[in-house]
Amino acid sequence: MKILAINGSPRTNGNTSLMIKDILRKAEAAGANISYFDLADLNIKDCKACMKCKKEDCCSQNDDMQALRPLIEEADLLLLGSPVYMGDQTGLMKCFIDRLYTFMAPAEPKGSLKSRLSEGKRAMVLFTCQMPNGNVVYNYMAVRYFNLLVNMLGYQDIRTYIVGGAVPNEDLRTTPQGRSTLDDGERFVIEALGSKA
Ligand SMILES: Cc1cc2nc3c(=O)[nH]c(=O)nc-3n(C[C@H](O)[C@H](O)[C@H](O)COP(=O)(O)O)c2cc1C
Repeated sequence: MKILAINGSPRTNGNTSLMIKDILRKAEAAGANISYFDLADLNIKDCKACMKCKKEDCCSQNDDMQALRPLIEEADLLLLGSPVYMGDQTGLMKCFIDRLYTFMAPAEPKGSLKSRLSEGKRAMVLFTCQMPNGNVVYNYMAVRYFNLLVNMLGYQDIRTYIVGGAVPNEDLRTTPQGRSTLDDGERFVIEALGSKA
């Protein structure tokens, strides 16, 4: 099983990144083939709305999304992580998400779109935030990412976690919310690995 993990925090060793990497370590030990990227280190521009991807199966922009494109197509599991910024994902993550528009092909009836990605993919989405009850306050993010990944891009299954109580320079993985998210997230990924074998 191939896993592509994307960290949308500008802090490349922050809590979001550390939590993603813990899950990847478990997945790798269980036999998964993993790729990890910090969006902060990549050059991914905003979608220009040129609509080239609605005429051809490609994007007009020549930036780091070109290298990620085949990895997204091949990944059995996409692991997205972002801190909550002002009640939303970071700008880095939003920019990446908008560029996924390239995987939406024109369909019938006219004006509708369908995913170009193969069926059976899974996704895990991890949000970290400072508010202790962020899992309740920002619950709408789970709905948004379900809509994005399942309804629009055709992912078969998605698990979203919103981990509250993140304090700068403290390790979120050691908190009860952080620990239980890692336990559950690792189980989700290992189960996905098993179903693929
Ligand atoms: C610009 C900015 C906006 C933020 N907005 C929120 C917010 O709306 N709600 C919240 O609970 N935490 C907010 N936070 C806190 C971060 O979500 C939290 O510290 C997060 O865990 C940081 O992740 P990282 O360590 O991976 O960078 C904000 C932090 C920054 C820098």
